[in-house]
Amino acid sequence: MPSLFTIGYEKASLDQVIGALKAAGVAIVVDVRAVAASRRAGFSKTMLGNSLKAEGIDYLHLRALGTPKAGTNTAAVRLAELERNATSVRTLYESFLNRFKETTTQQGMEESDARVVSKAKIPNVASFPKLGLNLALGILFGLGAGIGAVMLAEALDSGIATSEDIERFLGVASLGSVPLLSSTVNKGGGASDSPADMVVERPLSAFSEAFRNLRTSIVYSRVDKAVRVIAVTSSLPGEGKTTTAFCLGRAMAMSGTRTVVVDCDVRRRNINRLLGQEPAVGLMEVLAGKASLDQALVLDAASGAWFLPLARSSFTPKDLFGGQAMSNLLAELKARFEFVLLDTAPVLPVADTRALAPKADVVVFLTQWRRTPRRAVQAAFELLRSVGADIAGVALTQVDVREQAKYGYGDAGYYYRSYRKYYAQ
Ligand SMILES: Nc1ncnc2c1ncn2[C@@H]1O[C@H](COP(=O)(O)OP(=O)(O)OP(=O)(O)O)[C@@H](O)[C@H]1O
Ligand SMILES: [Mg+2]
Repeated sequence: MPSLFTIGYEKASLDQVIGALKAAGVAIVVDVRAVAASRRAGFSKTMLGNSLKAEGIDYLHLRALGTPKAGTNTAAVRLAELERNATSVRTLYESFLNRFKETTTQQGMEESDARVVSKAKIPNVASFPKLGLNLALGILFGLGAGIGAVMLAEALDSGIATSEDIERFLGVASLGSVPLLSSTVNKGGGASDSPADMVVERPLSAFSEAFRNLRTSIVYSRVDKAVRVIAVTSSLPGEGKTTTAFCLGRAMAMSGTRTVVVDCDVRRRNINRLLGQEPAVGLMEVLAGKASLDQALVLDAASGAWFLPLARSSFTPKDLFGGQAMSNLLAELKARFEFVLLDTAPVLPVADTRALAPKADVVVFLTQWRRTPRRAVQAAFELLRSVGADIAGVALTQVDVREQAKYGYGDAGYYYRSYRKYYAQ
């Protein structure tokens, strides 16, 4: 058991120790606080300095600009702003990075689907356009279009162009063709431009030869009867009846046969124009008994042919061509001439020819080359047949022999080019 003295002594030592410890503790606390404060200040200053440096801002310079407190606040705001920027940029960067990774992965997967089957070769011919196919299609379409055009032209072309057309569409013989004068003569060759004159001026020309051919065809068109009275007619006006009858008469006379041409077209009286004279008496006066045949007949000195023209008359006898007077006249002419040619009016518009045609031995029907419509010819045929006329055949007129070569293989005109030099004139 300790004594009081010992206890007092020990208490005094303890108080000393406690006092020393207290003094040391205060000093430590003070030191710790000082260190903590300096560390805090140093740390935040360094952090701010570093962040600002990362953004390229000089901290010391920043401090020098404003008051220390205001500078710190501004810097803190700026710092927060920069951090937000950095965060958003980082987020953006990360999203791009992720996307890039995804794409790369996908590409890898796609590529792995494909495999090389064969290596691509360098082509040595063009793959398009396909020449063979195009050529075949072209030929096919060309042929189709050509055939279509020909069929259309055939359908639209209702004229008669060849002897084959005459036989096929009209069912009668082809007697020949009279060329268009201008298509047989050379320009500037000095030839007459009048068909009637051409026959006497150039009897050895292709044009004159056509009439000799026509004459032979007509004369030998009938084996059962003599062909002496020949009516030259056509369906429509202006197809060449007068010209053909006139030239045929001249050509026949020049061949040495006694020939007479009678003008039976009372409306036109065109033989006078070709003869170049206006007679005082003519066919109508003879039919009416007012003049004799000899008074009315006109000799064409150039060819030796005879003509019975129509005088400018104020009267028209009744039933001019259908009556007995005409039959009697024809009988008289037949007795005096070997061939009697009748230049008539067109069949469709005028009734005269229907009355006259049965009195002739044969009817020579003319159609203008490529012009006269088939229907017109067929209608005229019906009219003529209904009165008992004997149609010997059809002759084409005003044929362009140069053009005809394109149409009929069988026609004389087709070979015209090859034998044209044969003609002396
Ligand atoms: N072969 C031909 N060559 C050149 N021109 C011709 C030929 N045939 C006829 N012509 C011309 O055609 C026109 C009509 O001829 P033409 O008078 O002979 O016909 P037509 O049938 O007698 O007529 P119409 O019915 O009016 O009497 C005339 O100008 C004539 O010169
Ligand atoms: Mg006429």
